[in-house]
Amino acid sequence: MSASNPPSAALLSRCKELIDLINYHNKKYYLETPEIPDAQYDRLFRELQSIEHEFPQLKTDTSPTTRVGATPLSVFSSVAHEVPMLSLDNAFSEEDLLAFDRRIKERLKVDETIEYSCEPKFDGIAVSVLYRDKKLVRGATRGDGNTGEDITLNVRTIGSIPLELKGDDIPSVLEVRGEIIMPKKGFDELNQRALAKGSKTFANPRNAAAGSLRQLDPKITASRPLVMYAYSVGYVEGELPDTHGKILQALSKWGLLVSDELKIVRGVGQCIDYYQALGERRLALPYDIDGIVFKVNRIELQQQLGFVSRAPRWAIANKFPAQEELTRVNDVEFQVGRTGAITPVARLEPVFVAGVTVSNATLHNRDEIERLGLKIGDTVLVRRAGDVIPQIVSVVREQKGTNIQSPVRREIVFPENCPVCKSVVVTVEGEAVARCTGGLICEAQRKEAIKHFASRQAMDIDGLGDKLVEQFVDEGLISEISDLFSLDKTSLAALERMGEKSAENLLNALEQAKQTTLARFLFGLGIREVGQATARSLASHFGKLEAIMVADREVLQQVSDVGPIVAQRVHDFFQQKENLKAVAHLQAAGVTWPETEAKPDEPGKLPLTGLTYVLTGTLETMTRDEAKEKLLALGAKVSGSVSSKTHCVVAGPGAGSKLSKAEALGVEVLDEQQLIVFLSEHEV
Ligand code: IVH
Repeated sequence: MSASNPPSAALLSRCKELIDLINYHNKKYYLETPEIPDAQYDRLFRELQSIEHEFPQLKTDTSPTTRVGATPLSVFSSVAHEVPMLSLDNAFSEEDLLAFDRRIKERLKVDETIEYSCEPKFDGIAVSVLYRDKKLVRGATRGDGNTGEDITLNVRTIGSIPLELKGDDIPSVLEVRGEIIMPKKGFDELNQRALAKGSKTFANPRNAAAGSLRQLDPKITASRPLVMYAYSVGYVEGELPDTHGKILQALSKWGLLVSDELKIVRGVGQCIDYYQALGERRLALPYDIDGIVFKVNRIELQQQLGFVSRAPRWAIANKFPAQEELTRVNDVEFQVGRTGAITPVARLEPVFVAGVTVSNATLHNRDEIERLGLKIGDTVLVRRAGDVIPQIVSVVREQKGTNIQSPVRREIVFPENCPVCKSVVVTVEGEAVARCTGGLICEAQRKEAIKHFASRQAMDIDGLGDKLVEQFVDEGLISEISDLFSLDKTSLAALERMGEKSAENLLNALEQAKQTTLARFLFGLGIREVGQATARSLASHFGKLEAIMVADREVLQQVSDVGPIVAQRVHDFFQQKENLKAVAHLQAAGVTWPETEAKPDEPGKLPLTGLTYVLTGTLETMTRDEAKEKLLALGAKVSGSVSSKTHCVVAGPGAGSKLSKAEALGVEVLDEQQLIVFLSEHEV
């Protein structure tokens, strides 16, 4: 076929079908509910591109292929808003909200219950998108409310903003207002990628969204996971429904994204309930919100109420307590973990963040301190998000508007000796972690080792939690793991907060825990790099503890998921006298397990033995660790980098340089769906 021949009817209809399909799957993708693998989406996209290439007359300016590819701008031009983009008044308490409701009734001179629209207050960037005859013609930032910047090219790259509206009764000119946000998941992935490349990370999703929009090169915006939620309209020529709720419903029907959380309620009491209910779910939402917006639902009433200075009288934002607060780092202390890892912990001037007082934040390791450029005395931004421990987001150099006095800043010095046992601290080349070399001489490591041994996944000693272990060690009741089994009722019952009954229960639990399995026992010993899965493999391969204890590194590596590093760790562990003594003491105390027959893994027997896999990008239905474990179980090696020796790369959304390298080297690439099929064929 050539361009001089007109496209056939079949091709025309395929072209239309492809546009609809791509728009549909695009929407599913940004809502994080994809129905087809990326590879299939890419195929549809390429098919449309090639048709449009062959028949340029079929290419419209609203085709999904036109989203990316525009040339970078040298400067943003300005846009005058036909209807100013206003802000909202804030309410900070229930009283403020009740007063808002009272003011409305007074102004309207009514006493009846007012209908309100309740919706999240998105923590992103306000934008205006203008549609003429259903087509997206302009995107603009809020700017000062009267004049913003023209970001049309960037807005066109955002999948949740339709290039063309679909449906009937659409006003001929329709300016939609909304918020562009970066969902939390996309934000985390973006920062992970930045960290991996050694480039700067964004402090929070809002900054990331702002930074992504203010790009002169729309290709950069296109590569960022942005979403727009529509929440109102601006300039309109044509008819719209008579309530705010129905207008948003119409916008949604025409193809724009509207919050699922939108709810129309009657009376301020229900507004308060909504605030509380969504507040409780706030951290679990896929995006950041900083409060709730309440709006009078009936447009007629909105018009009667009008505006005061820069804000409507008919709406109010009820802010949540902030998720981020400023505070000062008073000190940095060092904690010693089970494997001797020394973790710096920032002691903060206590600060109330999203409902809790935060006074500590982990700093992970030396690299993190360097990344932040942190010194003691610095003012920092502390953030709580989801169920994660508080994080220090950044050091705040300017202190405008804060009343935190910064004393002299002090360098954070990593200790040369363990803060607990004074043994030498070493940092192995290439590792970010510093470690105490004291082993079980170190009281901190001993405490952690005992906690780990007692934990649910290890010996599962009912009722023996972390606090109790600390108490036992602090009071000198035990000093090594096996001492647990010689605890007696009198000394236990004499402890604070421990009655006779609890003492008895604990002794029973200890007695029961003595009957265990080799896998649990091995895991409980806390050998570095030996997790539950490896402990199970070792136990099943060797059958007997004695065989593992005497195995050299080569023999250990015959176990399917044991590589040179794990083999070294296991070997080293059983070379140390302290550890041999601990094992002997435990056995002498009566810890036993049924002996099982050794089931050695036969090299070459598994389907993927000898093949190297690389995982990259994000997987949707399983974590990368789960995928890794499944591949290991089939005998594959899972490596972190792609080379000519790589057999296959499993790539999820967000895959970057590893995927390009695999493609360049001609290495097979699977997407998640294909991996799932492959794994299920092998019944993993
Ligand atoms: S309505 C005239 N609804 O909050 C009223 N605004 O402080 C227009 N925002 O600049 C705003 N979520 O960027 C409205 N559901 C929501 C919102 C929302 C976030 C932002 C908006 C505005 C700021 C006002």
